[in-house]
Amino acid sequence: MRLDKFIAHATFLPRSEVKKLLKRGEISVDGKTTTQGSHQLSGKEEIKRLGERLHLPKARYFMLHKPKGVVCANQDPEHPTALDCLQEPNKESLQIAGRLDKDTTGMLLLTDDGQWNHRVTSPAQHKTKTYWLRTADPLDENLIQHFASGIQLKDEPRPCRPAQLTLLDVHTARLKISEGKYHQVKRMFAACGNHVLELHREAIGSVALDKNLQPGHYRPLSEWEVKQLGDTNA
Ligand code: URA
Repeated sequence: MRLDKFIAHATFLPRSEVKKLLKRGEISVDGKTTTQGSHQLSGKEEIKRLGERLHLPKARYFMLHKPKGVVCANQDPEHPTALDCLQEPNKESLQIAGRLDKDTTGMLLLTDDGQWNHRVTSPAQHKTKTYWLRTADPLDENLIQHFASGIQLKDEPRPCRPAQLTLLDVHTARLKISEGKYHQVKRMFAACGNHVLELHREAIGSVALDKNLQPGHYRPLSEWEVKQLGDTNA
């Protein structure tokens, strides 16, 4: 990483300010005053501003109980965004790990660790996502086998990976999928001639939405949850 980028991350100052403080000779790298923002760091250096050690902020990981009506976008002129639900500094650096539709509720992950986000959402990881859903038309037992053998979505070259459907009552079910295609659950039911009226994400991999989180509330992930979700074998 370049020195000026490191300082900007560590101080939350804009690049223009970073330039100025470098020019003023406020920064030292391993004890030597440095004015070159382009200086490449190996990651082992001791960087100080006016004699005080600078550190990169620790990566942040959050679980939000997404309410209905909230959009998974950085900005939206009409609707509240997932970031609006968070009271955190420097929110702009947070990314959503696995989007949900505006009318879908449930577990949403946010982080500023891009590599972790990639491990959670990469299609190659096939992480299981568990959804509870309610349909317009009655569900029947035949669907279980249909979902297990791979639903063919409209406009997709290949069928979906096998999905595990558990019927809860005539109109509600639990579905486990290991992909994240656009509007996947709704399209799977549309392909069977049904319509999803309500959709709620209960879990990703082995990490479930915290039952103590009311819609619109969030909390940091525990170390165990961060590890489980980012684990490439889980
Ligand atoms: N599948 C959908 O159709 N919508 C979501 O929000 C998530 C999965």
